[in-house]
Amino acid sequence: MSLNSIEDIATYIVADGKGILAADESNPTCGKRFDSIGVESTEVNRRDYREMLFRSKGMKGNIGGVILFDETIRQSADDGTLLRDLISDQGALPGIKVDKGLQPIEDCPGETVTVGLEGLDERLKEYATMGAKFTKWRAVINIGDGIPTNKCIDANMEALADYAKCAQDNGMVPIVEPEVLMDGNHSIDECYDATERSLKSLFSYLKKKGVNIKGTLLKPNMVTSGKDAEEQAGINDVAEKTLDCLITNVPSSLPGITFLSGGQSDVLATAHLDAMNKIGGFSWKLSFSYGRALQAPALKAWGGKLENIFISQDELSHRAEMNKLASLGQWEEKLEDR
Ligand code: 13P
Repeated sequence: MSLNSIEDIATYIVADGKGILAADESNPTCGKRFDSIGVESTEVNRRDYREMLFRSKGMKGNIGGVILFDETIRQSADDGTLLRDLISDQGALPGIKVDKGLQPIEDCPGETVTVGLEGLDERLKEYATMGAKFTKWRAVINIGDGIPTNKCIDANMEALADYAKCAQDNGMVPIVEPEVLMDGNHSIDECYDATERSLKSLFSYLKKKGVNIKGTLLKPNMVTSGKDAEEQAGINDVAEKTLDCLITNVPSSLPGITFLSGGQSDVLATAHLDAMNKIGGFSWKLSFSYGRALQAPALKAWGGKLENIFISQDELSHRAEMNKLASLGQWEEKLEDR
């Protein structure tokens, strides 16, 4: 692959229906995932689990990039191969999460701002020497009584734009992730409103800070009902409202939109993506950057046991293949029966 510019890198990651495997859970988040299967979250267990994922057959041709956590980009497999080299061997690019998590905002109860700009340039320089080709920063927007406030949206989107500029100046593609959480009992229209306000603010800051949109990927939430809402929007409603919101607010020069799954079940995340690609009518690639929706069945099948490696890898490969088909609008529910 000849990747001479950030524009080439961004295009490569989402070419031919490929998407991103988000494997950048922080150690506490990984601990929560491992708790659910009764496995202790040690450095070796995290390494073994991720090594298994990265060696899965279904990585090839379906996954264009893998987002890593700081610990993982430095780790080697049992046989001494760097995990990041396993990823490259599968034809995917290694990327790295570079934000430093959430901090409460003064006078904005229930709201946070993502931090990590301090020392970012030095961290990015080191990651570039390790072969990272892209980076990710996640901002979190909560829906609730009187929130999100404009103060919270703007603080988060300005930080995202500062980060994106710094990543590009270091030769890496920024994935900008403004995640409107599914937590709560809000309606799909309230999610639309919070997502639209976030995207408008984000793209105005990206422009203001001189970020090259052609060398950027957007990782948004889909427009859905809140997780605890009594009335849940159906697949077509989610697909139509999400597309409408993106077409209205995202420049057509952006090479790719790669959704987060945000707590949707694995098959529903695939069905939503497929429905949008079947509707069509947009210029960006519309693909996936799923964490839970790619990993959940593999994690469960693994259960921390060596003898389960192959069935676990089959689970990851299956989800990767299904999501690639969804990115091309070629998924069908019956393909899930195996
Ligand atoms: P989920 O797909 O599990 O939401 O994770 C994606 C991610 O990278 C969150 O930052």
